[in-house]
Formats: sequence, structure tokens, C-alpha cells
Amino acid sequence: MAVFQLLLGLGANALLILSVFLFIAFLLYCLYIKYMHMKYDHIPGPPRDSFIFGHSATLSRIMKSGGNVHEKFLEWSETYGPVYRINGLHLVTVCVTCPEATKEILMSPKYPKDKFVYNRLFGLFGRRFFGLGLITAQNHELWYKQRRIMDPAFSSLYLRGLMGIFNERAEKLMDKLTEFADNKTEANMLHLLNCVTLDVIAKVAFGMDLDLLQKSSPFPKAIELCLKGMVYYARDLFFEYNPKNRRFVKDVREACDLLRTTGAQVIQKRKTAMQNGEDVPKDILTQIIKTAATEENMTKEDEEFMLDNFVTFFIAGQETTANQLGFCVMALGRHPEILEKVRKEVDDVIGMKQDISYDDLGKLVYLSQVLKETLRIYPTAPGTSRQIEEDMVIDGVHIPGGISCMLKLTFDSYVTGRMERFFKDPLKFDPDRFHPDAPKPYYCYYPFALGPRSCLGQNFAQMEAKVVMAKLLQRFDFTLVPGQTFDIQDTGTLRPKSGVICYIKHRK
Ligand code: HEM
Ligand SMILES: *[C@@H]1O[C@H](CO)[C@@H](O)[C@H](O)[C@H]1NC(C)=O
Ligand SMILES: *[C@@H]1O[C@H](CO)[C@@H](O)[C@H](O)[C@H]1NC(C)=O
Repeated sequence: MAVFQLLLGLGANALLILSVFLFIAFLLYCLYIKYMHMKYDHIPGPPRDSFIFGHSATLSRIMKSGGNVHEKFLEWSETYGPVYRINGLHLVTVCVTCPEATKEILMSPKYPKDKFVYNRLFGLFGRRFFGLGLITAQNHELWYKQRRIMDPAFSSLYLRGLMGIFNERAEKLMDKLTEFADNKTEANMLHLLNCVTLDVIAKVAFGMDLDLLQKSSPFPKAIELCLKGMVYYARDLFFEYNPKNRRFVKDVREACDLLRTTGAQVIQKRKTAMQNGEDVPKDILTQIIKTAATEENMTKEDEEFMLDNFVTFFIAGQETTANQLGFCVMALGRHPEILEKVRKEVDDVIGMKQDISYDDLGKLVYLSQVLKETLRIYPTAPGTSRQIEEDMVIDGVHIPGGISCMLKLTFDSYVTGRMERFFKDPLKFDPDRFHPDAPKPYYCYYPFALGPRSCLGQNFAQMEAKVVMAKLLQRFDFTLVPGQTFDIQDTGTLRPKSGVICYIKHRK
């Protein structure tokens, strides 16, 4: 009995000591937050919702109600100017729309991607995800080595050779749309476009035939889950510990495993083919294997590294393009006069031809303008962020350098693309802004980011988009089913919320 009481006493004491310790730790943390406020509060910004969580409450309210956080950033940019600050815990984010600073920072290799966002994308609920692949690599040498090896798979010479695949896969969409036209059923264009871009990247990058418009496959669902998981994981630090989310987190982990095991199989098969001296395409997969190849003996880390890039290309190379195409169809559906004009160009350049050639793409000037204007109002991958170690002055505002991952600078193409200051009457869809003779936007339009870390797949994506749009315009009339929303769904990437539901008719 005495022993029991003694233990109880000790327990209570331990609890007391622990409480005091936690309390002191909490106080110290609050002091640290206070320090960060004092260091950065001279930068203008909206009032904080709370001392500890800063502006997080506002942002999570928007996300929970299905809103678009970039609208808030736009509003704040208009109110607080070309450099403004937001806080969350001890972290400080400085949002920059100043073109000179955008140029200076994004064009230089001196400012690495920030640790907070990109380290977070390394994994997904405890699974390795983007790892140290091309998008997430922060270390300059590690990134540069990969990028140099990947470049040949994106050279214009190589891309030219992909026209056959672009045509063939887009043709499958036309077959499907023929069915919709014949049956007179409504088509969810975003879904169909997602099938095409996934078909294309799987074939072009990895030599996989998915044929999603005919066959079912677990990949679209897996990608969808991973993208959704990424948003929660990156924006809400406590998401995975909430029991309510257990089921979802498990599904995301399984989706992640599916992508990585598929990657491992595809890579193994290709490595065997290479070792047997077979003639393999010089595609993205071959280059991925080269980025890791340390002779015959690959370490576990090398294998993981290759899978990082498998996942990176599978995800990066697909959804953003499908969403751009979806927004493009939506915009054309709402602007009959622009639709008419771009269709006339397609008729003049392509006529009745079935296959579109690389040279044709260069002649589809107005279609290019339409696609660029689409990404101005609807940048499907809206931003990027950087870290600065040394102090800087941006637009007259002194920005103290950050202690590695506490401070990040963000650049948001959604915001700059919709500012009156940069684009007159910004909400008007007007492809003539990108007329070849019009002045080029000065560091306020960057849907593919800018500088050394800009999108490697930009030309790839725009060739693919043009082939799909040109065929669609050549063959079909499409009208938006009335009553659907034109809202944007912000799921990290941006997509048309409605799915872009269309009636499809054959053109006479
Ligand atoms: C409309 C379609 C696309 C858009 C809007 C887009 C946009 C972007 C943006 C904004 C970045 C910078 C990301 C960041 O700073 O974190 C990026 C990077 C990247 N994108 Fe794309 N992308 C598209 C299509 C593609 C395609 C089709 C591929 C591959 C086939 C691709 C591969 C990549 C890669 C590898 C990077 C990382 C580049 C590096 O850091 O070296 N993208 N993309
Ligand atoms: C069109 O109708 C046919 C015959 O009823 C059906 O097999 C096919 O799945 C339908 N296709 C679409 C896209 O609705
Ligand atoms: C590969 O690894 C095995 C065992 O780990 C070793 O015996 C062999 O010498 C290595 N080969 C090369 C080329 O490094």
C-alpha cells in the first residue's frame, strides 16, 4: 500500500514537472513567434486572425468552404501592395507581385526553392512521394544533374518525334466524342481530357499503353487521391492525426504505393531490356534511369530516386495540361466570336487532314494565343516559392533574410494575371493580349514559372494541347450545357469545378 502511494506521489510529481516544462516550452515558443512578428511586421499585411496561427484561420475557412485561396491573395495584393506579409505559427510568407523582384529572384539560380513547401512534398502521409525528384530537389547540384540528363527528352528534335503519339491519342478522344455526338449525351470534357493527357504521358514517358478512353484502370483514381492528399498534407499539419481522416489517409497511402510499385516494375523491365542490348526509346524513362545509374550496382537510394521522378512526371505531366484544356473549352464555350475565329484558323491551316504535323502547330498562331490567355486567367499550377538567406529590398520594403525555412517568398501567377495594373480589364478573356505584335507581359505572367526552375514540360504540354484542341475544333461543335458554374476549384492545382459539361455535335 505504501509503495503504491509512493508511486502515485511520484507520478503526480512527474506530471507536475512535465506540465511546468510544457508550459515553459510553450512560452518560449510564443516568444519566438513574437520575435518573428517583430522582425517582419514592418512589411504591410492584413491583420492576423490570431497571435499563434496568424492568417491560417482565414485561409482554412476558404479552403473548407470550397473557395479559391488565390482570390484572397489577389484581394490582399490589391490592398497591401506589391510586397505583403502573412503569418502562420512562426512562419512568415512574403507575397511578391513586383515584376522587378520577380525577375531578379526567379531568373537567378541563387535563390533555392523554399524548404517548407518542397520538403513537405518529399512524402505523403509517411510514404515517399516526389522525394528528391526534379520538382522538389532544392540542392542546386542535385537538381542540375537531373535536369541536364532529362533535357534531351524535351529537345525540340525529340518532341517533333512525338507528334505521332499526340495525334494517335487525340484521335481516340475524337472516337469517343463521336459516340457522344451520335448518342446525343452530355460529355464531361474534363474527365475525357484527363484520360487523354494521362494516356499521352504514360505512353510518351514510360512506354505504357493505358488506353483509358476504352479500358478502366486504377491510375486516374490513384492520381486524383494523391493530388487531393497533397493539398491536405501540405496545408494542414494535423490532418493525418485526425481519426476522422483515417480512411482517406489509408487510401492515399495505397494510391501512393500503387504509383511507386508500378514505377518499380516499369523501370525494372526497361533496365532488363537495356542490359540485353535491346533498342530502347530515348524517352523520359530511359533518361530517368540514367539520372540514377551508377553502373550496374544500384543502391536502394538510387532506386528510390528513380521512383521519385517516375511519380513526378506521372503527376506533373498530366493534370495541369488536362485542366488547361478544360478551361480552354470552357472559355471558348462562353465566347462564340473567339471560338469562330480560332475554328477558322484551324480550317485554314489543317483543312480536312487527319494528322497534324509539327509545322502545322507553328501556323496555329491564334490557337496559341487562346491557350496563353487561358493560362493567364486560369493558371493551372498557380505559383512557386523561394527562400532568401540575405536581406533584400523589394519595392522599397526591407525584407530581412530568413533563418533557412522560416521565411518564404511566394510568386502567384493567378494574382498577377488578374491585376488591372498589369492587364487592362483583367477578367475579360481576350487572346489578342498575346498577339505576336503586342508587347510581352513583363514578369507578371508566368504560368510555367520562370528561370532555371521553370517547367521542363512547357513545350511538350503546349504541343499536346494544340493537337487536342485543333482536332476538336476541326471535327466538332461543342456547347456548354446551361446552368453549370464557371467557378474554379482550388485543389493545389486549379481546375474547372463543373467538369465542363458539353453537348457535342458533328460539324457539317
Ligand atoms: C499546362 C501544363 C503545365 C503547366 C501549367 C505546368 C506548370 C509548371 C510550373 C508552374 C512549374 C514550376 C513548379 C514549381 O516551381 O514548383 C513546373 C515545373 C515542372 N514541370 Fe510543368 N507544367 C505543365 C505541364 C508539364 C508537363 C506536360 C510536364 C512533363 C512532361 C511537366 C514537367 C515539369 C517538371 C519536370 C517540372 C520541374 C522542373 C524543374 O524544376 O527543373 N510539366 N511546371
Ligand atoms: C452510346 O450508345 C451506345 C449504344 O447504346 C453505348 O454502347 C455507348 O456506350 C454510348 N456511348 C456514350 C459515350 O454514351
Ligand atoms: C556490385 O555489388 C556486389 C555485391 O554488393 C559486388 O560483389 C560487386 O563487385 C559490385 N559490382 C560493381 C561493378 O561495383
